[in-house]
Amino acid sequence: MLKDYLKNQRELVDSNIEYYLNKLEYPNVIADGMRYSVLNGGKRLRPILLLMVLELYGMKKEMGLPVAVAIELIHSYSLVHDDLPALDNDDYRRGKLTTHKKFGEAEAILIGDALLTHSFSLIAEETKEVSPEKLLKIIGMTSRYAGINGMIGGQTIDIESEKKKVSLDILKYIHENKTGKLIKLPIEIGAIICNSTKDEYDALVKYAEGIGLAFQIKDDILDIEGEFEKIGKPVGSDLELEKTTYPSLFGLNKSKEILKEVLEEAKKSLEIFPKEKVEIFNELADYIGIREN
Ligand code: IPE
Ligand code: IPE
Ligand code: MG
Ligand code: MG
Ligand code: MG
Repeated sequence: MLKDYLKNQRELVDSNIEYYLNKLEYPNVIADGMRYSVLNGGKRLRPILLLMVLELYGMKKEMGLPVAVAIELIHSYSLVHDDLPALDNDDYRRGKLTTHKKFGEAEAILIGDALLTHSFSLIAEETKEVSPEKLLKIIGMTSRYAGINGMIGGQTIDIESEKKKVSLDILKYIHENKTGKLIKLPIEIGAIICNSTKDEYDALVKYAEGIGLAFQIKDDILDIEGEFEKIGKPVGSDLELEKTTYPSLFGLNKSKEILKEVLEEAKKSLEIFPKEKVEIFNELADYIGIREN
């Protein structure tokens, strides 16, 4: 069952995050802040995607665990900064006070910076049994997908587009980058580690792009009709900041239809693999459409 599968994978990811973050000591406020911001009940979707690809190819999960943790640190940093007063100005994340509310604004900026930079030391210094050439590729891709040609690019246009009606092309750019790239990243890294063929690589990338877009459409739907107790972050944040989203451009019903279509397409792209091998990928796509948090 997908629920049990996700729980097991999450526990493995969490114990590795704890292992690496518990080594950090000084300055205390940064070490504590890093743990507070990461070890607080995230779904761990991105690291789990990397582990899923390794499993698909029958590779040992240990090979990908430091990178999987690193990606979760980058994702968590993006949330710490996303919640800052200068960006989305949100007070709750994963059901608890946001990092800047708990530790102060200057500290939250530095905690985010520390998470981002520490992630690269984990990839470069803790990864075992992956060749130096592959590691170099992984480090390059991680920095590209997290930066101006990825998450930061998307976040910038997201912020600049507040209080404006932007075109669907711009909205697609925002989603593809602010959310899509950090979802594509673990899947592509998995494919690199596993030496997937060109056709398999392309299929996995298509799947990743589909679920990445769907994931943000669903996030925007949950911002309207989710419950604080379940999503752990404020409802109505997008409306208050006048963000352009699929629901704001197309309305809720049409957005839900688009969400379904995108997920069906994503599942189709994996048809080149034997069906029983990608069952969990198909179940995960369905889960993204119905998730409540
Ligand atoms: C939230 O991501 C930010 C988006 C890209 C929509 P998640 O929904 O994966 O957040 P956590 O990690 O589970 O808290
Ligand atoms: C995604 O967008 C945020 C990042 C890429 C960091 P949102 O601003 O919608 O994410 P939430 O809703 O605050 O989690
Ligand atoms: Mg945001
Ligand atoms: Mg936000
Ligand atoms: Mg949101």
